[in-house]
Amino acid sequence: MPMQDWPYPRIVAHRGGGSLAPENTLEAIDAGRALGLRMIEFDAKLAADDTVFLLHDDRVDRTSDGRGEAGAMSYAQLRALDAGHWFDARFAGARMPTLAEVAQRCASGRIAANIEIKPSAGRDADTGTRVARTAAREWAACRGDAALTPLLSSFSFVALEAAAHAAPDLPRGLLYREVPDDWRVQAAALSCKSLHARHTALTERRVADIKAAGLWILAYTVNDPEVARRLGAWGVDAICTDRIDLIGADFFAAAG
Ligand code: G3P
Ligand code: MG
Repeated sequence: MPMQDWPYPRIVAHRGGGSLAPENTLEAIDAGRALGLRMIEFDAKLAADDTVFLLHDDRVDRTSDGRGEAGAMSYAQLRALDAGHWFDARFAGARMPTLAEVAQRCASGRIAANIEIKPSAGRDADTGTRVARTAAREWAACRGDAALTPLLSSFSFVALEAAAHAAPDLPRGLLYREVPDDWRVQAAALSCKSLHARHTALTERRVADIKAAGLWILAYTVNDPEVARRLGAWGVDAICTDRIDLIGADFFAAAG
């Protein structure tokens, strides 16, 4: 099946800046950019007032100085929390940014975005709709530039289905911890452009099958340079990594 080549950089900083900065913050994006990275993955969810903001977990406890369910808090409450000090005192004062702020940071740095839709429990469709609408609006200036068009992904089929209705033009990728037997059916049902799979779920044969189906394939979370080289040799389009210090912007090219 004819397909467009992966238009994005091949090394993607996991949660914004990998292991170099507090995850899902503007400071993380800046850390990756300082190393020359030009694509980031981050996690987007809804505050109680429907603001789209960045956070991985359902609760704020692990990555801020607050406690509680993020989806039950207004964005003003979330914004009041320190999302940097837990990681290192140097990052004290970092905030959970809105998706709109992240869009501005990406545009000013010409950084590509993989927006992982990460719904709080029971909010899959709503989160898919609002993340996709916000992304379409905030990245409107990038329309027509495939390298800067945000790539939406999710473990949630329902969230991606809602995103497809809300912003059909934004490319979508299904996320899998384990790749199910019916991945072709699921990807086709959502008109996905890519599969994003845990790297341990991939084999050379599986990568070849995914490519033969006309899909891009991104492997996460790859922190070992040897594994990254092997995945690159199998034809994986991109890897998502915490170790942006080890697996830098020019890694695939250098690994040749
Ligand atoms: O999008 C790849 C990766 O971020 C998925 O896992 O738990 O780190 O969001 P997680
Ligand atoms: Mg993620």
